[in-house]
Amino acid sequence: MKVTISDSIKYIGVDDKTIDLFESQYIVPNGVSYNSYIILDEKIAVMDTVDRRKTDEWIDNLEQALDGRTPDYLIISHLEPDHSSNIKLIYEKYPDIKLVGNAKTFNMLPQFFNIDLANRTITVKEGDILDLGIHKLTFAMAPMVHWPEVMVEYESTEKVLFSADGFGKFGALDTDEDWACEARRYYFNICGKYGAQVQALLKKAASLDIKTICPLHGPVLTENLSYYINLYDTWSKYEPETDGIFIAYASIHGNTEKAALKLYDILKEKTDKKISIADLSRTDLAEDIEDAFRYSKMVLAAPTYDGGIFPIMNDFLHHLKIKGYKNRKVAIIENGSWGPMAGKIMREYMEDMKNIEICPSSVTIRSAMKEENIEQLSVLAEQILA
Ligand code: FEO
Repeated sequence: MKVTISDSIKYIGVDDKTIDLFESQYIVPNGVSYNSYIILDEKIAVMDTVDRRKTDEWIDNLEQALDGRTPDYLIISHLEPDHSSNIKLIYEKYPDIKLVGNAKTFNMLPQFFNIDLANRTITVKEGDILDLGIHKLTFAMAPMVHWPEVMVEYESTEKVLFSADGFGKFGALDTDEDWACEARRYYFNICGKYGAQVQALLKKAASLDIKTICPLHGPVLTENLSYYINLYDTWSKYEPETDGIFIAYASIHGNTEKAALKLYDILKEKTDKKISIADLSRTDLAEDIEDAFRYSKMVLAAPTYDGGIFPIMNDFLHHLKIKGYKNRKVAIIENGSWGPMAGKIMREYMEDMKNIEICPSSVTIRSAMKEENIEQLSVLAEQILA
């Protein structure tokens, strides 16, 4: 994929459209890109490597950009293997190259690679500047966005922020799709737990004059940067992006589904707010997590199972918990043919999260929905909308 940044800063990353699951857990219907860049100046800096799945293509891109020269520095923004897999290869291929990272980078790097780092590293800290000639890279630490050693670099001459995983997105670069949809799914599933750390990074970025954002996944961002930065601000503050309701249901034989669909119809009659509904058994969990964070309100509907809660709903709630779900209003619908327990467990999950308002009523379906349940759903609809 040809991506133009400038005469001196080149894209040398690769698209991966054959990976089945990113991080062995996220479907990526349009693939993913592993972005890497090179800054050509008196000194040459390579900005991160790529996943080992695409080593050969990346080396071709690198050599073409180098045009016979040799790189002086490999900047290591992030050690996760989708970006760091080729560090040892580069270290061996270019014996004079210096690896540039921070103290945490070089503490962790030997866990991945058995290489002698003596005289081959430059350790940087917050605010340090690497002078390439005309281009100058300033380093800013971004711990836990999304690993502890993460740092970003600001190139002050061309005003480019190399933002590591920040502002990343699923989808290969040749995919024509809405940025926010797949960036949001990426953000909440990969960085969602680290909102406070993303906020800290945004505060640092606010002091910079940024013309271009070069993330490690997804497109290089060059226009209307406030749109992307404002979305990141909303997401990382755990504020809802959309005033609406996400109905997340799981159903074994369809009876809980009927109740969820009935509530959807009731809500549709009562409000113009956006309402999204998902069968957790048959939708992408990562998309469901994304929607839970996107909307201001959520309805959970699930049956009881083995004296507890249907595992599909439990998995969803577990993911919400580890991603730091908070600041939302929630309603609960349970089903139980005997000894209903699902509602109690959903409530416990929600009570364990910060600033969750649970509707005072809940609805218990006993096997199949009855007329009285429809009236209860109507009350619940009023409460979630209030
Ligand atoms: Fe794209 Fe956290 O690595």
